[in-house]
Amino acid sequence: MSKIHSKYVCQSCGCESPRWIGKCPNCSEWNTFVEELVQKVSARKIVKGTSIKATPLNEVDIIEDQRLTTSIDEFDRVLGGGIVLGSVVLLGGDPGVGKSTLMMQLAAELKNSVVLYISGEESAKQIKLRAERLNFKSVDSFLVLAETNVDVIAEVIERTPPDVIIVDSIQTMFRPQFESSPGSVGQVRESTALFTRIAKDKSIPIFLIGHVTKEGVIAGPKIIEHMVDTVLQFEGERHYAYRILRAIKNRFGSTNEIGVFEMRDTGLHEVKNPSEVFLSERSFGASGSTVVASVEGTRPILIEVQALVTPTSYGVPQRNTTGLDYRRLGLLIAVLEKRLGIMLGQYDVFVNIAGGVRVDEPAVDLGIATSIISSLRDRSIDSQIVAVGEIGLGGEVRTVSQIEKRVQEAAKLGFQRILLPKNNLKGLLRSNGIELVGIERIEDAVKILLG
Ligand code: TYD
Ligand code: MG
Repeated sequence: MSKIHSKYVCQSCGCESPRWIGKCPNCSEWNTFVEELVQKVSARKIVKGTSIKATPLNEVDIIEDQRLTTSIDEFDRVLGGGIVLGSVVLLGGDPGVGKSTLMMQLAAELKNSVVLYISGEESAKQIKLRAERLNFKSVDSFLVLAETNVDVIAEVIERTPPDVIIVDSIQTMFRPQFESSPGSVGQVRESTALFTRIAKDKSIPIFLIGHVTKEGVIAGPKIIEHMVDTVLQFEGERHYAYRILRAIKNRFGSTNEIGVFEMRDTGLHEVKNPSEVFLSERSFGASGSTVVASVEGTRPILIEVQALVTPTSYGVPQRNTTGLDYRRLGLLIAVLEKRLGIMLGQYDVFVNIAGGVRVDEPAVDLGIATSIISSLRDRSIDSQIVAVGEIGLGGEVRTVSQIEKRVQEAAKLGFQRILLPKNNLKGLLRSNGIELVGIERIEDAVKILLG
C-alpha cells in the first residue's frame, strides 16, 4: 500500500482534498488547488525552564555577511557586493535570454570555489559544449550533475558539499513524494523549500534559475519570490544584444542597481557605461522623440517615447499607439488642443514606446506630449534630457510616485537634466549629479525643450 505523502489545498480558502479538483467546493474558485506535503507534526515537547528566550535588540550580534566576490563587477554590484554565503538567489528571465550563460560565466569566475551545476534542462554534453564556446578554464572545480530529483541531489550535496550550487532550472526539479508533475506550483515550491534548507544549513549559496512563463501549466518564478533572499531579473529583447540584470528583491543590498551586459558569440560581456547603450539605440537629432523615466512595479526604466505627426490624407485622422493606452493618447491630444491651442484635427498621430515595452502609468504623459509637439514642429529635443510627469486635464503637470528612483536611474544612465513636476522637487533629497528642473504646466516643458 502506498503511503499518502501529499494533499491538495485550495490557495484561496484552505479547503483540503486528497485529489486535485478544478473548482473548490467551499469557495467556488477555479484552479486554486495546489499539491502540498502532508507534514507529520509531532507535538513539540515544551520543557520547563527552556533556554529559548527573546533577546533585546541591542544585544543582538551583528556579524558581517560573508561574501564571495566574482570578477564580474556588474554582477557583484547587483547582488550588493558579492554572493552572500548561505543565500538563495532566484534568477528569472525569459527563455533564451542568457540565464544559463550568465551562470556558467559566474562559475568560471569563481576560480577557488567548487561549483556544482545541476542541470535539468541540458545534458552534461551540452553544458560542455557551451563551456567550450565560453572558453571555460576552471574545469576541475566545475562539477556537473544532470539530475532533477531533488532528494537525490540533496544526497549528493550531503556527501560532497560544494561551495556554490546552481540549479538550472527550478521548474524542472521535482520531489518524488508528490504526484504532480515538475513545474507545477506544488513541486516548484517544495523543491525551493528543500534547496533553501540546504543553503541555510550548510552556508552554501544557491542560485535557482527560473523561466518566466505566460499563464500555463508551468508555474512562474513569482510563486517562490518570497521564499528566497534575492530575486534577480535578466531582461532583454531576444533580437537585441543588450541584457539588463536587475535586483527586484535583495535582503543583502539595494534594489536600485542594474548590471548591463552584451551577448556576443563569446558569451556575455560587461557594459561598463550603460548610458552609451541606451543612447546608441536612439535616433539622435530626429524630431518626435523624448526619453522618459518610467517605473514598472518597483523598477525604474528609461524608455524612449516616439511620436509621428503627419497631415491626414483620408477623412478621419488616425490615432495609433504601440505599448501605450490608446485612450490616454486621445486624452492628451484633447488637452493639447484645449489648453495649448495646438490643433491636431488635421493630423494623424502615431505614438510608439520604443523597444517593445508597455507602459501604463501616467508619469509618461509629459514625454508623450512633448514628443507629439516635437514631431508636429519638426524640431528635435535635446537628447540629454529626461521628462517625467502626469498631465492633468487642465494642462498642469502633476506629481508622480517614486521620483527618487526615476531621478537616480536617469542620473545613473548619464543624463544631464530631468524635467519633473515642481511639486515633486520638495520630496527629493539628493539629485545624484543630475540637474532637476521643476515644471508646473505643459507650456513650461515645451518652452524649455522646444524653445
Ligand atoms: P542561454 O544561456 O541558453 O539562455 P537561457 O538559459 O536563458 O534559456 O542562451 C541563450 C542564447 O544565447 C542562445 O540563443 C544562444 C545565445 N548565445 C550567444 O549568443 N553567445 C554565447 O556565447 C552563448 C553561450 C549563447
Ligand atoms: Mg538555460
